[in-house]
Amino acid sequence: MSEKITFTVNGTPRTVDIDGGEKLIFILREKLGLTGTKRGCDDASCGACVVVIDGKAVKSCVFPVKKLEGKEVVTIEGVSEGTKLHPVQKALIEAGAVQCGYCMPGIVMELYALFNREPGASDQAIRDALDLHLCRCTGYEAIWEGALLARKYLAG
Ligand code: FES
Ligand code: FES
Repeated sequence: MSEKITFTVNGTPRTVDIDGGEKLIFILREKLGLTGTKRGCDDASCGACVVVIDGKAVKSCVFPVKKLEGKEVVTIEGVSEGTKLHPVQKALIEAGAVQCGYCMPGIVMELYALFNREPGASDQAIRDALDLHLCRCTGYEAIWEGALLARKYLAG
């Protein structure tokens, strides 16, 4: 039996019909047209699908939609201000971390949540956050450099 749930996405209240077993990535991509969130493994092991829920980075491929009532979701579509990129986006681009780009929405959202919580996050906290993300292209060094540059931009 379907039911309605209401939550906020990128500051806009949304109400959707759910059947009960859906995961958040399905609602975002298929019902709300927010395709910036990427589907990779679908089993919580690659990080491509990360969004931010009530300030925390969450893998949307395994997050049950039933738990969304009243929550605030931020997706990659919600981090820039119009055409002005968020410092995390800007830093990753400048560091050369964006190649095919498939992993990037998840990495941006992970760092966005981390730096909102801890603007001066330690190297170890950044490493721990990035550990949860796979990238087929970069070898990770450029992502690391981008994360450090983002911390610098946010501090300054
Ligand atoms: S698609 Fe969710 S962690 Fe890979
Ligand atoms: S830039 Fe291609 S998977 Fe990361």
